[in-house]
Amino acid sequence: MLLYRGYQTSASKTGWFVQLTETKAINSYILHGTGNTLSGGAVAGIVIACIVILIVGIWLVVIYYRRQKMRKAKSLPCPEDSVQLGSASQAEGIKVNRSIQFSYEELCDATHNFSMEHKIGQGGFGSVYYAELRGEKAAIKKMDAKATQEFLAELKVLTHVHHLNLVHLIGYCVENCLFLVYEFIENGNLSQHLHGTGYEPLSWTSRERIALDSARGLEYIHEHTVPVYVHRDIKSANILIDKDLRAKVADFGLTKLTEIGTASRSLPTRVVGTFGYMPPEYARYGEVSPKVDVYAFGIVLYELISAKEAIVRSTEFTDTTSLVCLFEETLSMPNPTEALEELIDPRLAGDYPVDSVLKMANLAKSCTHEEPSMRPTMRSVVVALMALSSKDNELTRGLELSPRELRSG
Ligand SMILES: Nc1ncnc2c1ncn2[C@@H]1O[C@H](COP(=O)(O)OP(=O)(O)O)[C@@H](O)[C@H]1O
Ligand SMILES: [Mg+2]
Repeated sequence: MLLYRGYQTSASKTGWFVQLTETKAINSYILHGTGNTLSGGAVAGIVIACIVILIVGIWLVVIYYRRQKMRKAKSLPCPEDSVQLGSASQAEGIKVNRSIQFSYEELCDATHNFSMEHKIGQGGFGSVYYAELRGEKAAIKKMDAKATQEFLAELKVLTHVHHLNLVHLIGYCVENCLFLVYEFIENGNLSQHLHGTGYEPLSWTSRERIALDSARGLEYIHEHTVPVYVHRDIKSANILIDKDLRAKVADFGLTKLTEIGTASRSLPTRVVGTFGYMPPEYARYGEVSPKVDVYAFGIVLYELISAKEAIVRSTEFTDTTSLVCLFEETLSMPNPTEALEELIDPRLAGDYPVDSVLKMANLAKSCTHEEPSMRPTMRSVVVALMALSSKDNELTRGLELSPRELRSG
């Protein structure tokens, strides 16, 4: 009689079983230990079967591990620097939700050796180049600062900060010098939209939305990241605009990085920032708090209203004044609404609800208060701007009227 006995070996996990036909002999072997009842042929058969199973098992295990290794190598460009977060880790390419270290060769290929045709900007921290990396558009910032260990640790933290209204730092390269790889925002910066040529004038509704988007980005770094950040270089050139005219705050964390890269640890905070956007306590004493950003954001609001630069030059270029002085003078007049109309961007062609513009100007005034403790938090600014834009949306959408029609109606 033939019997199947589940005689499991170490390879049994892979589903290997031995078919034993000589049931009698085996039973006797199990019952009586090394009894003499087994014939020499049977023993040889069992030994050969075991060896074959063992070899096949080992072979299968080796193949399995090799395949796993190859799959990992394909999807992880730099395993030692990769941190997997969330479900996006399954995807390939640079949208993967982990910090990526790029090779210098890869960046050179993506920018035609950092050619002038690829250069899209020059800023205080270095030059910016357009690149196509792993099928995605990216902006590569070639930094003047050096990369220390502390610097790299900070960079890795920055790559894990995600918010719709913050330009995402995808990764970096530390070969030769330091390169930061950002998501590419295709529609220029707010300064170009307001002061430059080649862009359609922004409508009042778009300006309100850009203000709210950037306020949300700032509120996020002030209150919700670990550690929290003070941007310290908020200005219209650091607010990037996408194809749907939504705004994203660029360069957050960079001031901290350059400080780590260059400043001596014993010195008080180095003043980094842009003239015209710095509050008095920061410019004079280097005092840093989130209110430094609130002040600079107030200047951006004034820019959105007037399309004037933070430092305003007279037409003869003999005199300069600041937007803060210009607006404070205007808002303190007996009829501020009427006086304000002189300051509003002419490219709006009168198409705005003047009471909303006045509210935004008053919000900017409180943001630029000389005393930091009197300035609102970014959270309060977000709430104020939400109220402003939802009121305007209700009016324009509900009545299906343009702001100009509302004004005249
Ligand atoms: N991620 C990006 N996507 C598209 N353009 C960018 C990006 N980052 C920077 N730029 C462009 O490059 C310019 C220079 O950038 P940056 O070095 O940050 O200097 P700054 O902030 O002083 O203007 C920016 O003003 C912007 O127009
Ligand atoms: Mg910038």
